[in-house]
Amino acid sequence: MIAVDRIDDLRAHCDAARRDGRRVGLVPTMGYFHEGHRSLMRTAREQTDLVVTTIFVNPLQFGPNEDLDAYPRDLAGDSDAAQGEGVDILFTPSIAEMYPEPTRTTVHVAGLTEGLCGAARPTHFDGVTTVVAKLFAIVGPCTAYFGRKDYQQVAVVSRMVADLDLPVSVVGCPLVREPDGLAMSSRNAYLSSDERWRATGIFQALRDAAEAVERGERDPEALRTGIEHAGTHLGLDLEYVEVRRCTDLSTVTTLAGDLLVAVAARVGGTRLIDNITLQISGSEVTTDLGVITQGSTTEPQRKQSFRRGPQVEHPRVDSNARISLS
Ligand code: PAJ
Repeated sequence: MIAVDRIDDLRAHCDAARRDGRRVGLVPTMGYFHEGHRSLMRTAREQTDLVVTTIFVNPLQFGPNEDLDAYPRDLAGDSDAAQGEGVDILFTPSIAEMYPEPTRTTVHVAGLTEGLCGAARPTHFDGVTTVVAKLFAIVGPCTAYFGRKDYQQVAVVSRMVADLDLPVSVVGCPLVREPDGLAMSSRNAYLSSDERWRATGIFQALRDAAEAVERGERDPEALRTGIEHAGTHLGLDLEYVEVRRCTDLSTVTTLAGDLLVAVAARVGGTRLIDNITLQISGSEVTTDLGVITQGSTTEPQRKQSFRRGPQVEHPRVDSNARISLS
């Protein structure tokens, strides 16, 4: 694995690979790797020839009172993990390298960024799309891997690529969970043991909601209320509980078609997000709860899929779940 921290060097490596007919795979991250990040690297390793992983804690996507300074970092550990997953290039630019001057250009994807996480974090997605557009411009034509843990982020980045004709194929990869169901996140490192225990309630509430739909619930408001009650009972401070259409994140009045059930909650001072997707066709319900790890974070074969029924296809967000960790 080569460590690169200059934009020109990364661009040169990617250009050279493509000249040799090699496919470039990109995994953008903010580091502090866990199994969710590693699953993206493995998928990129399977599907492309030159795997580039980037670590950049992007100041643009943090609000003024958010955790930019506290964001966990472990470059040595991340470097070992990336090497272990067969990453070819680890790109770790400084802030001065990425933003030599305050950027005057911002990429904004209207509509998709306004609800869900965008409601409480109004500048967040502009920060994400601006830095991801820069990474796409640096790396050039590639396949880029994103986790469906951040479902709205995948939808926003996919729409940016479509609207701007960027030469990038966006792949949305399965959400990876801890053995007790908690969605993996670098921010889980902030949780005390009591908060860590309470945080599992988010997944329990989502799983109960899926079971309610499987039993015949078709009212989105009843589903939302059920999750709110479960969350409150478990001591979670819910920021939002939303049921949206997978395709365009629009709101729904009845539970039918491909739907996202998304939650954001504060546990202590930590903001966590989670989601499941449901494919509802009449009485047929297919639920995608993501992929759960069993113990070791390094052994992909020791995993079990929570997915029930056939794979959900998401029209706008490419799914690579057939090569998932299950
Ligand atoms: P970060 O939070 O480090 O996440 C990097 C990638 O890992 C994202 O695509 C995210 O969705 C994915 N990921 C995180 N947790 C996951 C989980 N439990 N299961 C599956 N995938 C998971 O997302 C960002 O960084 C930034 O916004 C970034 C896109 C790098 C732009 O700065």
